[in-house]
Amino acid sequence: MEELSLPPNIVAMMREQGRDPTKDPAAFAEMKKRKEEREQRLISKWNQQNRQQKVKSWLQDSIWSGSRPLNFTFERWEPDMQTNTQLAREVGNSAWKLAKRMIAGEQFNVLMVGEPGTGKTSLALAIADKVFKNAEKPYLFISTMKLFGMFNERFDNPEVGHKLKDLQKKAKQAPILIIDDFGTEAGMKIYNENTGKTHFKPVRKDMQEWLYEVADARYDEYENAHRGSTIVTTNNTSGDLVQMYNPKLISRLITKRKGNTIYFEGLDDMRG
Ligand SMILES: Nc1ncnc2c1ncn2[C@@H]1O[C@H](COP(=O)(O)OP(=O)(O)OP(=O)(O)O)[C@@H](O)[C@H]1O
Ligand SMILES: [Mg+2]
Repeated sequence: MEELSLPPNIVAMMREQGRDPTKDPAAFAEMKKRKEEREQRLISKWNQQNRQQKVKSWLQDSIWSGSRPLNFTFERWEPDMQTNTQLAREVGNSAWKLAKRMIAGEQFNVLMVGEPGTGKTSLALAIADKVFKNAEKPYLFISTMKLFGMFNERFDNPEVGHKLKDLQKKAKQAPILIIDDFGTEAGMKIYNENTGKTHFKPVRKDMQEWLYEVADARYDEYENAHRGSTIVTTNNTSGDLVQMYNPKLISRLITKRKGNTIYFEGLDDMRG
């Protein structure tokens, strides 16, 4: 064995131990293997730390409805809690299939629609968790109600204005974006005495524009393709949503594809 062709650090290590690497190929191979294993361990430890850091940063940028980040996994989805066990199982399976498609690299919008407490936010988080674990795609979670609160606050507190700018940048780039409880910020329906009909008031203009910019950035008009996946959860029908928001925003954000929509109608409110 030519000493010159050996990695100098291993040669030095063997010489320190009083061994001749040119005459002891088995020992050399063993040391080389041990060194490579050690390096591999360091690399995977570094990758793991890096991964945790990555998810932490997106979680820190997220805005949650409560004071703490939420999380949920498919393992925690229990169809037996529901009266209609079969439906709950189907809903869980549909979400699982959407996660698989995202893991395979597809990018699309998802709509989860139904009554409060039926598990929409939970399954949105389960999808995001699975896609992150299997495809390393992190997610950003935006509670629409909290976002609305920030718009109300921003004139009194300039820092909130900066936060909104940063959040918007992140929302444009997030591989997976969850827009949670979309539509609740519009408030209650209003009764119109002249027409005898009820309707929703449009959401404040600055928030509409903020969301429009995000939705537009996540959609490639030229390619007619989505950039990243956006999961919207809502208690409202698409008919309600167009009363609250500009149709151009709704068109970019709310999927019309049945295969990308999960209906939670028929499930019970699990908040009890
Ligand atoms: N099938 C289920 N298995 C386990 N936990 C469930 C299930 N369905 C709902 N839950 C739990 O019930 C609670 C309410 O669910 P979740 O917040 O996902 O509902 P939601 O549809 O998003 O409601 P809202 O429209 O009010 O936002 C959560 O604590 C959730 O984890
Ligand atoms: Mg919810």
